[in-house]
Parts: sequence; structure tokens; C-alpha cells
Amino acid sequence: MSESVIRDTPEPGVRSLTISRPDKRNALDRATYRALGEALTDAAQDESVRVVVLTGAGNCFTAGNDLADFQDTTPTGEPSAGLTFLKVLSSFEKPLIAAIEGFAVGIGTTMLLHCDLAYAGAGARFRLPFVNLGLCPEGASSFLLPRIAGTKAAAELLLLGEPFGPQIALDAGLINAVAPEGGALALALEKARALAQLPPVSLATTKRLMRAHLHDQIAHALELEAENFHALRRGPEAQAAFAAFFRR
Ligand code: COA
Repeated sequence: MSESVIRDTPEPGVRSLTISRPDKRNALDRATYRALGEALTDAAQDESVRVVVLTGAGNCFTAGNDLADFQDTTPTGEPSAGLTFLKVLSSFEKPLIAAIEGFAVGIGTTMLLHCDLAYAGAGARFRLPFVNLGLCPEGASSFLLPRIAGTKAAAELLLLGEPFGPQIALDAGLINAVAPEGGALALALEKARALAQLPPVSLATTKRLMRAHLHDQIAHALELEAENFHALRRGPEAQAAFAAFFRR
């Protein structure tokens, strides 16, 4: 496994996964997506793991997909590493809690739609800059965000793509609560400790029932978005936006 995801056991029954590329604001390159997917699969299979907490190193959750990878237009003939990770994430059966400090951009925000609980520090900054980058939504956010936030709120976040703080994330249903700055992980671990003491089969069944009616629609949205996303990613608007980011 790559060192860009650190696995730990901060509490009995709790597996923490820390995205760790701090010099790149924890941007998710292909290796990090693979490492995250493998770590989730391992947590799913390991009976000693009752709950997973997902967080980022260096007071940053993640700056989203690695834009250098997005510049690469070489056809691989394989599904993207991001889509493969999203499929593992969206079908993960154990309780999953996110702890967010600092930036949560792009997939850093959309992955919260697949976490059961999410807590953000008061200084967290969220953003869904897909349109700004010449892209379209991913992570089933075009389906899930209007459903949880309402169509007007979702349109504001997905069409304008402006940064927003934890209060708007809370109002949109992306997080459960705002912790004091630097306190998101402690709050997430407190909830993880409580969940780890509850009957695991009952927890898994409850999670599955809450998602059962959405499962096929989420899978469909992931595929439909991926198709459009990858066409746009190769196009001139997106490639110009990626180049502009690295020229700053
Ligand atoms: N992909 C690749 N590299 C990234 C990155 C990304 N998504 N986000 C940040 N980095 C790199 C920067 O290129 C820089 O690298 P360098 O030091 O080698 O030049 C380093 O991480 C620090 O980034 P910087 O922009 O200087 O940090 P900041 O604290 O001023 O700003 C962000 C942080 C997250 C607001 C800003 O980096 C950003 O907007 N990143 C892009 C987010 C994005 O568009 N993600 C994709 C969504 S689909």
C-alpha cells in the first residue's frame, strides 16, 4: 500500500484512514485512490474493524482530484481510478465517518455524500468547482446533492462552484455538526467509539436499509456522470483550466 494513506487504530474497533500528501494539499492522484480503495476493502473484510474514520493530514481534508493526472489524456482503456474508488466507497457496508479540517474540494466534498456521518472544523472550506474547471459533477452528487440539500441550494453549489464554509455545508446536509477549529477528528472519534460498541450486524443492516432504495440510482448516476466527466476532462475548456491552475 502507498504511504499516501495512513492506516491506524486510534480506538478498539476503529480504523482511521488518513489521506497524506500534505505538500499537495492531499490531492488524490491515481496511487492515492488505489490506496484508499484497498484500505476500505481491507477494513470491510477485517472483522476487528467496526467503524472507519476518514480524514486528511496537515489540517487539510483533500484538494480533490490531482489536476496533473487530469491533464493526462492518454487513453488507458480502464475505468478511472476515481470512479473505481467511488464504487468501493458508495458500497461500503460498515459505518463511515469523515473528519474535515481545511480544504475539502471537488471529490473531497462529494465523498461526504457517501459517508454516514461527517464533522468539520470551524475553519473548513468546501468547494465544488466542477463547472469552473470545465467539468461536470461526479460522485453521484448531481443526484444526491439536490436530494439532500434541495434543488436551489444544490444548483448554487454545483453551478456557481464558489467556496463555502461549514455552516452552509451543515445547512446543505453535507455534515452533521461543526466542531471548533482543529476539533473535527476528536468529535468523529467520539462518535466512532460509540458506534464501535453497538451490535455490528444491526448497524450494517440499518445502513443497508437506509441505502437500499437508492443503490441502483447512485450506481446509475456514478456511471452517467463518469461518461460526461471524462469527455469534458479531455476537452479544451477543462484542459485550459488545468493549465491555468499550474501557471498561477
Ligand atoms: N492537484 C494537484 N496539485 C494540487 C492540487 C490538486 N487538486 N491542489 C493543490 N495542489 C498543489 C499545488 O500545485 C501546490 O503544489 P506546489 O507547491 O508543487 O506548487 C501545492 O499543492 C499547494 O497548493 P496551493 O494552491 O499553493 O495551496 P493553497 O493553500 O494556497 O490553496 C487550494 C489550496 C486547495 C485552495 C488550492 O490548492 C486549489 O484550489 N487546488 C485545486 C483544487 C481543485 O480544483 N481540485 C479539483 C476539483 S475537481
